[in-house]
Amino acid sequence: MQVRLALVAGARPNFMKVAPLMKALSLHPEFEPLLIHTGQHYDDNMSGQFFRDLDIPAPRFHLGAGSGSHAAQTAEIMKRIEPVLLESQPRGLVVVGDVNSTVAGALVAKKMGIDVVHVEAGLRSFDRTMPEEINRVVTDSISDLLLITEESGRTNLLREGIAPERIHLVGNLMIDSLRANLEQARKSDIRARLGIGDRPYGLVTLHRPANVDDEATLQGILGALETIAQDVPLYWPVHPRTRARLEEGGRIHLLDPLGYLDFLCLQANAAIVLTDSGGIQEETTVLGVDCLTLRDNTERPVTIELGTNRLAGTRRDSILAAWRETRKSPKKGQLPPFWDGQAGERCCAVLRKYFLAR
Ligand code: UD1
Repeated sequence: MQVRLALVAGARPNFMKVAPLMKALSLHPEFEPLLIHTGQHYDDNMSGQFFRDLDIPAPRFHLGAGSGSHAAQTAEIMKRIEPVLLESQPRGLVVVGDVNSTVAGALVAKKMGIDVVHVEAGLRSFDRTMPEEINRVVTDSISDLLLITEESGRTNLLREGIAPERIHLVGNLMIDSLRANLEQARKSDIRARLGIGDRPYGLVTLHRPANVDDEATLQGILGALETIAQDVPLYWPVHPRTRARLEEGGRIHLLDPLGYLDFLCLQANAAIVLTDSGGIQEETTVLGVDCLTLRDNTERPVTIELGTNRLAGTRRDSILAAWRETRKSPKKGQLPPFWDGQAGERCCAVLRKYFLAR
């Protein structure tokens, strides 16, 4: 009998993780994957475009949960996913990453007696003011299988009392997507469309509430960006939550959110990436592009130890110091173990062992 597995995807950073897992599962007929889109992100340029770029099959269920406060959004997803799980009766529910859809899906499934698999488990920033950190800790604490991207995840989970046999290093699904699409992405004409040509440029992304909702922090960051933009023009696809707080001008070019392939192309060719995203720290490491993370901590330490990432903080001076350091000694970086494009297959191997042996 086939093992029915529900997969939850809700927000932009989930889609590049779910794509290779859906693909790998479809090659194993013993599984019946069933994709649930919570609708946390709903604009075409935050969701639909990624399904097309990454060739993800249409979700079996679309919950249309939408935006709201953390409580309202999480609750809405929980209310809407329960009847879907009741109707479809999956053996397991796979959640990825650390967004509200992740914790909402895990909570509902676990209370229904459905086994929960967390992909990208164990990452810790140790900063509990970050909503994602709460989502990670809660999801991991109730997951049956914890699939990790880097060894720090194992250390963190063991410290939290997770049984070692539940933890498996599978590599990084997001890097599967990167590797599968890089060649295609390089053909994107996005640089021509933006009038960049072959000139060096920097790429900016910023959306963390602690950075963009706090006026003083945002002003410090913008001050640093204006100075850096004197050295290299900056291109900044703006996340919806950040847009209202910014005004166009100078050598900082504000863009609408970009699709996966266009963004990957800009990343691969950038002289520098400045970001507060989690996933972009990992992608730049694999692309060998210097990354300044505009935060005081990271839940992805391997990108600093082995990769091209540097913590630049959020103050004007700390960011400019990191920029000077990067120009003086760019990081070459090396690949973390198993970030090789085969994470989807490794996930399947773990899932087979767990679900078929029982
Ligand atoms: C969410 C994740 C964050 C992830 C980010 C990537 C949580 C807690 N946060 O943050 O970890 O890095 O996604 O994008 O789950 N909006 C739109 N259109 C959309 C989606 C959102 O306009 O398609 C607006 C919403 O109205 C809202 C704001 O953007 O006001 C924030 O959206 P939300 O999903 O709540 O959180 P993100 O900041 O996107």
